[in-house]
Amino acid sequence: MNTSPTKHSTRNATLLIAAVLLAWSGFAFLNRADPTAFQRKKQPEHLSQTLHATAIDLPKGPPTVFIKNHPDTGAPITASCTTCHATRTPNRANTAKDLDAFHQGLKFNHANLSCYSCHNDQDYQTLKLADTKTIPFQEVMTLCAQCHNPQATAYKHGAHGGMNGHWDLSRGPRYKNSCITCHDPHAPQYPTLRPKFKPIDRFLDPPNQTHAKKKGTRHE
Ligand code: HEC
Ligand code: HEC
Ligand code: HEC
Ligand code: HEC
Repeated sequence: MNTSPTKHSTRNATLLIAAVLLAWSGFAFLNRADPTAFQRKKQPEHLSQTLHATAIDLPKGPPTVFIKNHPDTGAPITASCTTCHATRTPNRANTAKDLDAFHQGLKFNHANLSCYSCHNDQDYQTLKLADTKTIPFQEVMTLCAQCHNPQATAYKHGAHGGMNGHWDLSRGPRYKNSCITCHDPHAPQYPTLRPKFKPIDRFLDPPNQTHAKKKGTRHE
């Protein structure tokens, strides 16, 4: 049989292309199967923590109590917890309603928690976790997280709690609010907000000139 030379070279070329494709796909497959292939890529610079360090607005230390008129002297005082509690026997039965001497006005509406779910009756300058571990007030978010893990996790990756400050760090720092910047630990429900429309700016939007023009586009 006499096959023409052009037919031969076409078949050879096809075989060659097929071989190259096979080798390439095999190589690509092996490369994909390599589990370290991902990790070998360097983390992009813009995701690094040091470049985008974010401070959290946490309490500086244990809170103090301001009393407008002291029940005995009538004078205003600011006192730390231990000033009074070092000599008082903790009363586990107390609820916010009973606190009529020194913690008047403390609103409490946080499920059916007791004061000592969070406060430490051995040392009022600290907080207490459920496993009785003592933590400073600065670590209040650990306390919230033990009961509100979904929100704490969402907070960590940015879906709860938002971000404040500057995107461009040369203009100022960037920071996040802590759980208790937004939620009062004693009555944590976030207040309902009602959106309001922006008032018409009478200087930038003189009514005589723009009112007629805008009338058709305004939704009222
Ligand atoms: C000026 C004194 C004074 C200071 C300061 C003070 N307390 Fe109290 N506290 C009291 C008294 C008195 C009671 C008893 C209830 C009342 O107020 O009538 C009480 C009650 C409580 C209770 C309820 C349980 C119990 O033992 O009765 C808790 C919890 C508590 N205080 C926590 C704190 C914490 C936390 C601080 C600091 C941030 C603080 N207190 C600062 C005087 C004080
Ligand atoms: C869910 C945890 C939690 C519970 C429950 C709780 N507290 Fe607190 N409390 C805190 C935290 C956190 C702070 C610190 C707030 C801050 O630094 O702004 C605080 C602060 C205080 C203060 C200082 C003044 C103020 O209002 O910030 C007093 C007084 C106090 N608590 C008393 C009580 C009493 C009394 C009860 C029970 C009726 C109670 N707490 C229940 C977490 C709690
Ligand atoms: C010991 C467990 C416990 C701790 C600690 C605790 N919580 Fe709660 N919290 C609860 C429970 C229980 C509820 C009620 C949940 C429900 O109704 O579904 C609640 C409800 C809430 C709510 C919803 C309130 C509403 O009415 O919508 C917020 C917000 C909240 N907590 C924030 C906090 C913050 C902030 C802290 C830290 C200071 C904290 N919690 C610490 C147990 C806890
Ligand atoms: C920037 C303010 C902000 C910060 C910071 C914040 N929260 Fe909230 N949180 C909110 C708002 C607003 C809501 C109310 C959502 C709604 O009403 O639908 C809410 C709701 C909640 C609720 C009620 C359940 C829900 O998802 O509606 C819990 C529990 C809660 N937050 C816990 C936390 C904890 C724990 C932290 C800290 C890790 C935290 N929040 C930090 C603003 C904040």
